[in-house]
Amino acid sequence: MLMKYNFDEIVNRKGSNSYKWDSNENEDLLPMWVADMDFKTAPPIVDALSLRVQHGIFGYTKVPDSYFKAVINWFERRHNFSFEQDWILYTTGVVPALSAIILAMTEPGDKVIVQTPVYNCFFSSILNNSCEVVNNNLIYSNGNYCIDFDDLEKKAADQKVKLMLLCNPHNPVGRVWTKEEIIKIGEICFRNKVLVVSDEIHCDFVYPGHTHIPFASISEQFALGSVTCIAPSKTFNLAGLQVANILAADPIVRKKIDKAININEVCDISPFAVEATIAAYSQPDSEEWLNQLIIYLWDNYQLVLRFFKEHLPQLTITPLQATYLVWIDCSCLKKSSNELSIILLEKGKVRLNGGGIYGEAGEGFLRLNIACPRKVLLEGLTRFISAIEQ
Ligand SMILES: Cc1ncc(COP(=O)(O)O)c(C=O)c1O
Repeated sequence: MLMKYNFDEIVNRKGSNSYKWDSNENEDLLPMWVADMDFKTAPPIVDALSLRVQHGIFGYTKVPDSYFKAVINWFERRHNFSFEQDWILYTTGVVPALSAIILAMTEPGDKVIVQTPVYNCFFSSILNNSCEVVNNNLIYSNGNYCIDFDDLEKKAADQKVKLMLLCNPHNPVGRVWTKEEIIKIGEICFRNKVLVVSDEIHCDFVYPGHTHIPFASISEQFALGSVTCIAPSKTFNLAGLQVANILAADPIVRKKIDKAININEVCDISPFAVEATIAAYSQPDSEEWLNQLIIYLWDNYQLVLRFFKEHLPQLTITPLQATYLVWIDCSCLKKSSNELSIILLEKGKVRLNGGGIYGEAGEGFLRLNIACPRKVLLEGLTRFISAIEQ
């Protein structure tokens, strides 16, 4: 395919108040941790935002019908997932969404299932809402992850368990859950009256041979027995604009969540969030940009595989079915994730996420963000290898 967009362009993010690039004491450090991308967003989004800036007035914002239509059409077109405008509650991010859903659907002391290793904010959202985390550890075997359904069945049977936070696709292990797996999760949870909260923020980065299955798309029962969180933020690199959508088919559940996003004061989004979301989801050139980006990221992943095979074959790279976050099994080095991160920082001047923050099951692993120009990735890999080899 002819590449219309130049993902090789290196944009200097230092000094832009980037959390990833401007939080490091050492100027020379290469950050490959926080999950945002080092690419400029799609041109139609920049144009829409520039136009909005030119208007010069940034008062309180009404979310127009075109916003909801853009969200609905995107999911219908890209994921074969149809839902009603009524289902949508917009908010300032997926983490605020998760927190509000937990507040709405639990009492203090209730329990929430997560599948570790998993995105670290799942833990804080549960604990911040006075609930208890219940681990349904993923099974790791021969470098691959799958769900421990027997354990899930046992954990879901606890009357105190009210919710399961599903990471679909999964950060950090990179799995796309199959239709069979999704159905099995639903059957277990519904039998035990556990509401499934499906975080689908990474759903637009799915690689060849895999299909994202929106949890709520399986059937009416799955839609009514779940709440879905979606956002254009990972897909189009808009995390700083703070926008996400909650999809709740059940009107009673929706009313409770609506109240919770009001209690938490996360019920208003900015004029930039509105314009960016509409341009992202409805402009053909934004979609084309994403299609090309997925190819670029896949090639980056192939580079990672080749590099490790050649230089550090003892480490296992987890198969990347989705996301731009590569999960590296360093357990053969017999060091904790924290020790490994420090070695990389001090000896390699490269920063990755230590796996331990994703739960005990992530110990001995590192998470590498590959959403950067290939030259930068190559530099990061070179630093990684030199630090480990020293
Ligand atoms: C699974 C998952 N959910 C949510 C988020 C963050 O969402 P937001 O920035 O919209 O709060 C991330 C970011 O890495 C993530 O990986």
